[in-house]
Amino acid sequence: MKPHALTRRILAQLVLLVALITSPGLLAQSDDSEPEYSRKGADSCFACHDDQATLAVFRSKHAIRQDSRTPFGHGQLQCEACHGPGGEHAGRVRRGQERAPITAFSSGSTLPVMEQNQFCTACHQDDLGFGWHGGAHDMEEVACSDCHSSHAATDPVLVSSMQAQVCFDCHQQQRTQAMKPFAHPVREGKMDCGSCHSAHGGSSDTRLTQQATNDTCFGCHAEQRGPYLWEHAPVSENCGDCHDPHGSNHPGMLSLRAPMLCQSCHSQSGHPSIAQDASGLPDATPSPLLLGQSCLNCHSQVHGSNHPSGSKLMR
Ligand code: HEC
Ligand code: HEC
Ligand code: HEC
Ligand code: HEC
Ligand code: HEC
Ligand code: HEC
Ligand code: HEC
Ligand code: HEC
Ligand code: HEC
Ligand code: HEC
Repeated sequence: MKPHALTRRILAQLVLLVALITSPGLLAQSDDSEPEYSRKGADSCFACHDDQATLAVFRSKHAIRQDSRTPFGHGQLQCEACHGPGGEHAGRVRRGQERAPITAFSSGSTLPVMEQNQFCTACHQDDLGFGWHGGAHDMEEVACSDCHSSHAATDPVLVSSMQAQVCFDCHQQQRTQAMKPFAHPVREGKMDCGSCHSAHGGSSDTRLTQQATNDTCFGCHAEQRGPYLWEHAPVSENCGDCHDPHGSNHPGMLSLRAPMLCQSCHSQSGHPSIAQDASGLPDATPSPLLLGQSCLNCHSQVHGSNHPSGSKLMR
């Protein structure tokens, strides 16, 4: 064993020891109808669960013993604060009998998600805010533990550079998009899903940090906010009309390239959409810009214009 690993192990055990010495004895409940808590709290569990993976819970914020609100704080139920009463589970098993079950989480659990989550919400009701209840994750029975890792020094979903991987487990489409050549720097760990979404649920339909999509974008792209003398209707309505914020194959994260993008709304008749020849232009003059095929060559101020004569978004 490497020296630092050894020190860590000793430290972990020390933390344990202190936790155990100072915690009040956890009395088993006498009422027969209620499941029993173990007599010696975490100590009962270590007899069988003393592997590093389990002990890592002592390196998490839940193990702050001085904080009486945490599972390992004074007077708390320790492991059983999350796993529920484990007296029977920790007890002796007669030959031929099965060990009594105890609450497990996520896919390993037989308990309905709503009930699993209750072990966490018992302490975290306030952290969830209004958005959680009735939101997609709540309704689709995503467990707290599907996103949060409790037996870990750092919970990956709370770290920008690691968060997306947690979400990608279920959100494959966003994973695919994030891998495209033009995307927000989520893959690079410079942004996370939480830059735009409230994982616990915000007030908007798609759980954005702001009620409106555009307000979410303005948080970082204030320069697009305007106000403009000449607005471009879709821009004030929804940035998502033209951009795919999760990533795209087109420069600027556009959902389509111009002129196709523009032509998805602007009529094919007359000038506006016949980009490839001059017949539709006001003075019918062939233009190299036009032949360049992009509407943006002329209508460069696609987000809006403040120029007195910018009504056609050209300056
Ligand atoms: C005497 C040994 C023993 C003790 C003491 C013990 N366990 Fe277990 N535990 C096991 C075994 C063995 C399993 C493997 C699953 C099984 O066979 O039920 C297990 C499984 C678990 C699981 C996974 C359950 C699942 O369904 O996958 C959790 C969580 C757990 N124990 C927590 C605890 C906690 C918390 C304590 C202390 C209150 C505790 N255990 C005490 C032996 C023990
Ligand atoms: C803050 C809540 C919390 C506390 C406290 C806690 N656990 Fe867990 N435990 C979990 C969650 C959630 C999981 C599921 C895996 C994960 O999220 O890390 C888990 C997983 C486990 C597993 C693995 C079960 C499996 O399916 O493989 C065991 C064993 C276990 N815990 C034992 C313990 C013991 C022993 C203690 C006390 C020393 C303890 N836990 C304290 C929440 C907790
Ligand atoms: C006995 C009360 C209690 C229970 C049960 C509990 N927690 Fe906590 N949890 C706390 C407290 C208190 C903190 C704050 C620690 C701090 O501020 O440093 C905390 C912190 C956290 C954090 C922030 C961690 C960090 O690194 O910043 C997360 C995430 C969390 N809990 C999730 C959970 C989940 C998921 C469960 C259920 C598996 C759970 N908690 C069960 C009391 C609890
Ligand atoms: C979809 C993934 C996801 C689910 C499901 C989820 N969380 Fe979180 N949680 C996050 C993210 C991301 C953060 C950090 C960003 C934030 O504060 O909104 C977080 C933060 C937290 C924090 C720390 C808050 C703080 O301000 O430090 C707690 C506590 C917490 N979650 C508890 C829970 C509980 C309890 C549940 C289940 C009822 C749950 N979470 C379900 C993703 C999730
Ligand atoms: C265990 C699977 C799972 C994980 C992990 C998960 N989600 Fe989800 N999420 C779902 C399901 C299921 C839905 C509802 C169906 C859908 O829209 O795909 C959903 C919906 C959403 C929605 C749409 C919200 C709505 O109201 O329609 C957003 C945004 C979202 N998730 C973001 C996240 C983020 C951010 C993370 C990581 C912090 C995350 N999810 C982690 C399963 C998951
Ligand atoms: C730059 C902002 C931004 C980032 C970063 C972001 N999203 Fe989104 N997301 C949005 C917007 C805007 C929508 C709404 C799109 C719509 O309504 O058409 C959305 C919608 C969603 C939806 C619902 C999709 C649907 O079809 O209903 C899911 C799921 C989702 N995002 C997951 C994620 C995940 C996972 C991450 C992190 C990998 C992430 N998002 C990062 C802005 C963002
Ligand atoms: C948390 C900050 C943040 C939020 C919120 C945000 N963005 Fe971004 N955006 C960035 C960063 C950082 C870049 C990358 C800039 C770079 O690579 O130079 C970027 C790049 C872009 C680009 C590509 C720019 C280019 O030059 O190719 C577009 C388009 C864009 N964002 C649109 C949006 C839209 C639409 C929203 C709202 C749904 C949004 N952004 C929300 C930070 C943000
Ligand atoms: C009508 C389609 C359309 C809408 C709606 C739209 N954009 Fe754009 N956006 C574009 C095009 C086209 C480009 C590429 C401009 C270029 O190549 O010169 C672009 C480029 C960008 C860039 C890259 C930097 C720049 O200025 O060239 C950012 C950032 C951006 N848009 C943000 C936003 C935000 C934020 C919104 C919502 C307020 C939004 N866009 C709405 C079409 C649109
Ligand atoms: C989501 C639909 C949509 C897309 C995509 C779109 N536009 Fe528009 N555009 C509109 C609407 C709606 C108006 C307002 C029409 C009106 O007021 O009659 C408008 C107005 C304009 C105007 C001003 C017209 C006038 O009469 O004042 C120009 C120029 C324009 N768009 C160019 C573009 C270009 C260039 C693109 C591609 C980068 C584009 N549009 C993409 C919907 C769209
Ligand atoms: C060579 C420059 C040039 C290119 C390229 C160009 N336009 Fe125009 N566009 C103009 C001019 C000039 C006007 C002003 C016509 C007027 O005032 O009557 C105009 C007007 C418009 C209008 C307003 C029409 C109206 O009835 O008022 C729309 C919408 C428009 N263009 C869309 C597009 C789209 C979409 C493309 C790409 C398919 C495009 N333009 C490419 C020069 C261009």
